Amino acid sequence: MKLSAHQLQQFEDEGYLFFPDCFSEEEIALMRTEGQRILELDRQEVWREKSGAPRTAFAAHTFNDVFRILAHHPRLVEPLQQIFKEQVYVHQFKLNAKAAFEGDVWQWHQDYGTWARDDGMPEPRAMNIAVFLDEVFPFNGALMLIPKSHKHGTLQAGHDRATTSYPLWTLDQDTVTRLCREAEEPGRPGIVAPTGKPGSVLMFHGNLVHASAPNITPYPRKIAYLTLCAVSNHITKFTRPEWIAHRDFTPIVPVDDNALAEHARTHRTAAE
Ligand code: SIN
Ligand code: MN
Repeated sequence: MKLSAHQLQQFEDEGYLFFPDCFSEEEIALMRTEGQRILELDRQEVWREKSGAPRTAFAAHTFNDVFRILAHHPRLVEPLQQIFKEQVYVHQFKLNAKAAFEGDVWQWHQDYGTWARDDGMPEPRAMNIAVFLDEVFPFNGALMLIPKSHKHGTLQAGHDRATTSYPLWTLDQDTVTRLCREAEEPGRPGIVAPTGKPGSVLMFHGNLVHASAPNITPYPRKIAYLTLCAVSNHITKFTRPEWIAHRDFTPIVPVDDNALAEHARTHRTAAE
């Protein structure tokens, strides 16, 4: 997948790009089933909310064939090779459950804030790509973004280890308020929350400020996040486990565009 000049400009101006319908229902059905199964596993990579509900499963691309394909998918990898003008590697891979009734908050933060402070990543030349596995509604914990906030560099943050089960470098209320005021435009508040069908994809700059509210609805909001980093910008500090911040900086060689559909068909045939 190649980004147009207009999309590249939009990314530079707003800090994110949204692609509804990037993956087909067949491709997503496969990932949704596998994702749910992985979130129920009892392994160190699966983190739970304080309530015990699954929150995040890390590194599924290292032990699951379907997510290995996703982490090498040209629809995700090629746009980032284009933006960073070089090869990329997988810095992190996670499945975020935002479980029905129990999915907890993700406080306001910048991803690069954590990658810089915890992992010694030199520059914000890495970013998250969110693949919606369930439908994201305005009410089931949609990701909220502050447009243009990526232009402020790495903002001062405090290390929150108490609010949720996952430690995060979070921004204070005054900073979030100031950034929202700056992002306001006639007819648009300073926050956007892209919603859409399973298969939609959201790419956002490592310094774009974002958060999500708890899910108090019966509708789960599973999202797979692939974090790709420019190879020359690999991390230099190994403070977090390998399965949270990877140390294999091998450039990704993308698979064929139809690899997920092919996998679904082969496995369907094998099961028949
Ligand atoms: C994140 O910011 O890393 C995750 C947020 C979410 O899944 O809601
Ligand atoms: Mn984040």
